[in-house]
Amino acid sequence: MEATHVSVLLNEVIAYLAPKDGGIYVDCNLGLGGHSAAILEASSPGGKVIGFDWDAEALEIAQKKLFIYGSRVQLMRRNFATIQSSLQELGVGSVDGILLDLGLSSLQLDGGDRGFSFKGSQALDMRMDDRQEETAAHLVNTASEEELADIFFYYGEERQARPISAAIIEYRRSQAIATNDQLVKIVEQAVPKRFHPKKIHPATKVFQGLRIAVNDELQNLSKVLVDGTGLLKINGVFCVISFHSLEDRMVKRFFADEPKLKVLTKKPVVPTDEECRLNHRARSAKLRVAVFAGNN
Ligand SMILES: C[S@@+](CC[C@H](N)C(=O)[O-])C[C@H]1O[C@@H](n2cnc3c(N)ncnc32)[C@H](O)[C@@H]1O
Repeated sequence: MEATHVSVLLNEVIAYLAPKDGGIYVDCNLGLGGHSAAILEASSPGGKVIGFDWDAEALEIAQKKLFIYGSRVQLMRRNFATIQSSLQELGVGSVDGILLDLGLSSLQLDGGDRGFSFKGSQALDMRMDDRQEETAAHLVNTASEEELADIFFYYGEERQARPISAAIIEYRRSQAIATNDQLVKIVEQAVPKRFHPKKIHPATKVFQGLRIAVNDELQNLSKVLVDGTGLLKINGVFCVISFHSLEDRMVKRFFADEPKLKVLTKKPVVPTDEECRLNHRARSAKLRVAVFAGNN
C-alpha cells in the first residue's frame, strides 16, 4: 500500500512560519515529511530543516521524500522531548521556527497494524516508537482498576471510565486482552447503548487515553513547549497543531502564561470546510501560534 498522509493546515503553517532563505526550522513531527517539504520549498535555496520522528517507518518514508534537499535536511529518530540536547549535539543554538503537528499519521492510524484503530484484529500495541517497552496490551492487562479508570477519564475524557475499567478487570479474570477488537467489544458491552456517543466510535476515548498513556504524550508535549521556547531566536515562531482538547488546552495555557512569548492566534486557527471535506482527519485540528518576543 502506498503511504499517504495529507498535511493538515499546510498553507496556514507556512504563512505563520514564513520560512526564509538561511533560516533554521525544527519539524518535531516529521510523519511523512509533508510540512517539512513545504518549509524547504519556501526557504529555498538555503533554509534548513531539522526533523524528528520516533517512528522508524515514518522516518524512512520522510527520508526518501526529503532526499532531494540534501544537506538542507537533518533527520533524527528521536522523541521531540529531546529537542534541547539533540540540537546541542548538532551544534545548533537557536532556530527561526518550530512546528508541532501532534498525534498520529494516517500511516499509523489507517495503514498500520499496531492497534491504534478499531479496524480488523490487530495486536494492541500502540507504541509509536517500538524501542519503548510498555505496550497498550501490557498496560490494560496489568494496571489496577483505578489506574485504568484514571487513564480513560483524564487522558481520554471518557465519562464511562469506571464501568469500562471494571469490565476490563472482569474480562481479564478469564483471558488476557491481546487485540484491539477484544478491547472494542469490552467497551461496547460495558457502556449501555444510550450512552454511546453519536458522532464518534464508542471506543474512541478509551483508545485515545491508552495511546496517550503508552506514549507519554502529555509529558512530552509539556517538555517540548518549555525547551522549544528556549531555543527560539527573537521573532522565532512556535506553531502547534493539536487534535484533542487536552493538548489544545495545554498549548493555550502555556502560550498565555509564558512572558517570553507573544501569542498571534487569540483563537485557534481551524481548517476550512473545504479542507475538512477533503481530509477527514483535519476536522479536529487546531493551530496556535506564538513568537519569541525576548527575555525581558
Ligand atoms: C500527525 S503526524 C505528522 C505528519 C507530518 N506533519 C506530515 O506532514 O506528514 C505525527 C507524527 O509525529 C510522530 N510523533 C508523535 N509524538 C512524537 C514524539 N514525542 N517524538 C517524535 N515523534 C513523534 C508520530 O510518529 C507521527 O509520525
